[in-house]
Amino acid sequence: MRTPSTPKLYIVFGATGNTGKRVVPLLLAAGHSVRAFVRSPGKLQISHERLQVVQGDVGDAEAVRSAIKGVQAVISLVGGPLGDKSFHGGVLPPFIKAVHAGMREHGVKRLLVQAGAASVVRGEKFNFLKHVLVRQIDGRTRGDHGCHIDNDEAISYLETSARDIEWMVTRPPLIVAKPSEGKRVVALDVMPWPPVVTFEDMAAYTVSLIDDDKAVKTSKYCGYALASAIHPPSFAGYVASTVAIGLAYLIYRLI
Ligand SMILES: NC(=O)c1ccc[n+]([C@@H]2O[C@H](COP(=O)([O-])OP(=O)(O)OC[C@H]3O[C@@H](n4cnc5c(N)ncnc54)[C@H](OP(=O)(O)O)[C@@H]3O)[C@@H](O)[C@H]2O)c1
Repeated sequence: MRTPSTPKLYIVFGATGNTGKRVVPLLLAAGHSVRAFVRSPGKLQISHERLQVVQGDVGDAEAVRSAIKGVQAVISLVGGPLGDKSFHGGVLPPFIKAVHAGMREHGVKRLLVQAGAASVVRGEKFNFLKHVLVRQIDGRTRGDHGCHIDNDEAISYLETSARDIEWMVTRPPLIVAKPSEGKRVVALDVMPWPPVVTFEDMAAYTVSLIDDDKAVKTSKYCGYALASAIHPPSFAGYVASTVAIGLAYLIYRLI
């Protein structure tokens, strides 16, 4: 176990999830304390002298606000049910507002929220692959659309209404339950390629980022460092736009 120069108490929402259950032991191993806010404590497969467990639902704004008292930073790894076509969003936006209110109430500054590469961030260039293929086709077919909407709204709220706190958003691509790739996940300005990371590597990135002042008020993509100068998502977008313009021109000439 390492003893950090300043051990902190972090609250982790979504501590029983795929990312959360890997982040908690990493924080503890780094010498920090963790308050895990979970709706099913039985799902936590870990006990530790520096691990506190608070049972609650993120839809309970009062419980969320009061759980934040006394922590140094907040980590949200909460997500609606990915792949559930009946889920149309609504979990994350009220929860993030409650987190913000709790942080203000208890003087907590730092917040990390995990959204996704498919999330939309204000001012970002239109990306054909993301908007059409991932969100409209794959997202709707798989039933991930509700989660995309939730993540979009959470980011939008932070950007517009949470200027008083040090928030940061991570935007990983597909995350898979495989052993670590042995590579570091890094912040990226473009869609990650290949569009996949492991939960192990994403958890390590989360823990490294939470104390990084440079990440404050950013919502960057993240993934393994790009291996080649050719960025397939941008290239695919270029080809798709060229084909679309060509087809539009043909139709215009034919009618
Ligand atoms: N998995 C991916 O491939 C992927 C890719 C990119 C982005 N993301 C994003 O990353 C975030 C986390 O993803 P993940 O895959 O780690 O999530 P996950 O495995 O689905 O876990 C979600 C966590 O949120 C908790 N949660 C959901 N509703 C709750 C409620 N009402 N009250 C209390 N806890 C609640 C779950 O608790 P229970 O254990 O009790 O259900 C679980 O701990 C999400 O925003 C997701 O959209 C995921």
